[in-house]
Amino acid sequence: MTTIKIALLGFGTVGQGVYHTIRTHQRELASILGKKVEVAAVLIKNKERDRGIEDGILVTDNFEDILAINGLDVIVEAIVGREPAFSYLQKAIYRGCHVITANKEMFAAHGTELKKLAGIHGVTIGFEATVAGGVPVIQTVLQLLNVNRIKKIEGILNGTSNYILSEMRTAGKSFEEALIAAQEKGYAEADPTNDVEGYDAFYKLMILSEIAFGGKPDWDDVPREGISSITGEQIKQAEKLGLRFKLIASIQRAGGKITGSVRPTLVSESHPLFNIEGVENSVSIEADIVGRITLQGPGAGMYPTASAVIEDLIHSLLNRKVKHPSIPHLVKAVPESAGKNEK
Ligand code: HSE
Repeated sequence: MTTIKIALLGFGTVGQGVYHTIRTHQRELASILGKKVEVAAVLIKNKERDRGIEDGILVTDNFEDILAINGLDVIVEAIVGREPAFSYLQKAIYRGCHVITANKEMFAAHGTELKKLAGIHGVTIGFEATVAGGVPVIQTVLQLLNVNRIKKIEGILNGTSNYILSEMRTAGKSFEEALIAAQEKGYAEADPTNDVEGYDAFYKLMILSEIAFGGKPDWDDVPREGISSITGEQIKQAEKLGLRFKLIASIQRAGGKITGSVRPTLVSESHPLFNIEGVENSVSIEADIVGRITLQGPGAGMYPTASAVIEDLIHSLLNRKVKHPSIPHLVKAVPESAGKNEK
């Protein structure tokens, strides 16, 4: 049986989840791909630290070592921030590798360029793991676009914030205690500012905007607010009135204009997001033919996110190219500018 060679960039929560899933699901992968999947190399920051990576796998802190691997098929990028991730993926595409990313910030900023570059070089780029963890939002949106016009996407896109709000309400934890618990569970980003100030949900929203509408609003025109200023007292008062705080991200297109926002919102029992608790994400997609579809599931964490990466891996290797429709109802992309939503 021939072998598919993969390199992992980063060995944090997502990288480890992908590494372990490939090992525990060899049989399933071989049966669908007809090939054995092998992690050939892992790029880590500090190669002196023992990460429990099997002997025989190249562990390096030098990306050039990865590029030099003979017959490398796929590079999975799960590092944080725009650089060096963007440069690494550009080089990986030039080298002819399929690429898969879980990096929301980098992909929100550079996804359009990377998709174009991948198209030129005849490789695929998978980014299911950039939005809503294990919930297959990207594939669903792309599939709906075969025939539908999407009008609006709205939901809870940050698992950490939702988890913190739930823990503050149901377990009476302080914001700080709940954040520490979210970090221990592997939900929060390395820099949790991204989660609690709404940047993470904002980046996911921009990725969704790009695929659903073929463009993004100017980043400065999107109001973004996180949950860090919500107090336990406010949560209690709201509960007495039958209300709950939810960090809601929303993007819509009307009259050719795309508008969006990320902000904490008080919702009542009749609201579809009222009962979404813990690390769950929930995303509603409104489209002209199908109506409204809602997807819900674990929005963060090691294995849900690994599941999204492995889905992309299978799509890449079966050559089911991720479609990027260029159909007339998609508006032209508006370049985002550096401004208040740049962190
Ligand atoms: N920190 C992110 C979240 C991870 O909490 O939603 C998944 O993107």
